[in-house]
Amino acid sequence: MEDKINVTICLGSSCFSRKNRDVVSVLQEYITDKNLKTKITLKGGHCFGHCKKGPIMLVNGQEFIEINPSKAIAIIESFLMEE
Ligand code: FES
Repeated sequence: MEDKINVTICLGSSCFSRKNRDVVSVLQEYITDKNLKTKITLKGGHCFGHCKKGPIMLVNGQEFIEINPSKAIAIIESFLMEE
Protein backbone atom coordinates (compact mmCIF):
# COMPACT_ATOMS: atom_id res chain seq x y z
CA MET A 1 0.00 0.00 0.00
CA GLU A 2 1.42 3.34 -1.01
CA ASP A 3 1.35 6.19 1.51
CA LYS A 4 0.30 8.75 -1.01
CA ILE A 5 -2.27 8.59 -3.72
CA ASN A 6 -0.69 9.87 -6.91
CA VAL A 7 -3.20 11.13 -9.41
CA THR A 8 -2.22 12.20 -12.92
CA ILE A 9 -4.74 13.67 -15.32
CA CYS A 10 -3.88 13.67 -19.01
CA LEU A 11 -3.66 17.25 -20.23
CA GLY A 12 -3.21 16.35 -23.88
CA SER A 13 -5.33 18.10 -26.48
CA SER A 14 -7.72 15.22 -27.06
CA CYS A 15 -8.44 14.81 -23.35
CA PHE A 16 -8.72 18.60 -23.17
CA SER A 17 -11.49 18.54 -25.78
CA ARG A 18 -13.17 15.82 -23.72
CA LYS A 19 -13.32 18.19 -20.75
CA ASN A 20 -10.36 17.10 -18.62
CA ARG A 21 -10.39 20.61 -17.11
CA ASP A 22 -13.69 19.85 -15.37
CA VAL A 23 -12.12 16.79 -13.78
CA VAL A 24 -9.08 18.78 -12.65
CA SER A 25 -11.18 21.53 -11.06
CA VAL A 26 -13.45 19.10 -9.24
CA LEU A 27 -10.49 17.13 -7.89
CA GLN A 28 -8.69 20.29 -6.78
CA GLU A 29 -11.82 21.40 -4.95
CA TYR A 30 -12.29 17.95 -3.39
CA ILE A 31 -8.68 17.80 -2.16
CA THR A 32 -8.93 21.27 -0.63
CA ASP A 33 -12.37 20.75 0.95
CA LYS A 34 -11.42 17.41 2.51
CA ASN A 35 -7.99 18.66 3.55
CA LEU A 36 -6.24 15.90 1.60
CA LYS A 37 -3.26 17.88 0.32
CA THR A 38 -0.79 15.70 2.22
CA LYS A 39 -2.52 12.52 1.10
CA ILE A 40 -3.16 13.12 -2.59
CA THR A 41 -0.75 14.43 -5.19
CA LEU A 42 -2.51 15.79 -8.25
CA LYS A 43 -0.57 16.56 -11.38
CA GLY A 44 -0.96 16.80 -15.11
CA GLY A 45 0.57 14.48 -17.66
CA HIS A 46 1.12 14.35 -21.39
CA CYS A 47 -0.82 12.17 -23.79
CA PHE A 48 -0.96 8.55 -22.62
CA GLY A 49 -1.81 7.29 -26.09
CA HIS A 50 -5.43 6.38 -25.45
CA CYS A 51 -6.95 9.63 -26.66
CA LYS A 52 -10.21 8.16 -27.92
CA LYS A 53 -10.93 6.79 -24.46
CA GLY A 54 -10.16 10.07 -22.71
CA PRO A 55 -10.11 11.83 -20.46
CA ILE A 56 -7.54 9.51 -18.95
CA MET A 57 -6.59 9.49 -15.27
CA LEU A 58 -3.81 7.50 -13.63
CA VAL A 59 -4.04 6.65 -9.95
CA ASN A 60 -0.89 5.05 -8.52
CA GLY A 61 -0.07 3.88 -12.03
CA GLN A 62 -3.48 2.36 -12.69
CA GLU A 63 -5.21 3.78 -15.75
CA PHE A 64 -8.85 4.83 -15.80
CA ILE A 65 -10.65 5.84 -18.99
CA GLU A 66 -13.57 8.09 -19.91
CA ILE A 67 -13.25 10.04 -16.70
CA ASN A 68 -15.77 12.66 -15.68
CA PRO A 69 -15.96 14.59 -12.41
CA SER A 70 -18.22 12.15 -10.53
CA LYS A 71 -16.34 9.10 -11.77
CA ALA A 72 -13.03 10.67 -10.74
CA ILE A 73 -14.29 11.34 -7.19
CA ALA A 74 -15.67 7.81 -6.88
CA ILE A 75 -12.31 6.34 -7.94
CA ILE A 76 -10.36 8.53 -5.51
CA GLU A 77 -12.73 7.59 -2.69
CA SER A 78 -12.22 3.92 -3.41
CA PHE A 79 -8.45 4.43 -3.08
CA LEU A 80 -8.94 6.35 0.16
CA MET A 81 -11.06 3.53 1.57
CA GLU A 82 -8.28 1.04 0.89
CA GLU A 83 -6.11 2.87 3.42
S1 FES B 1 -4.64 13.32 -25.12
FE1 FES B 1 -5.09 12.20 -23.34
S2 FES B 1 -4.53 10.17 -23.86
FE2 FES B 1 -4.00 11.32 -25.61
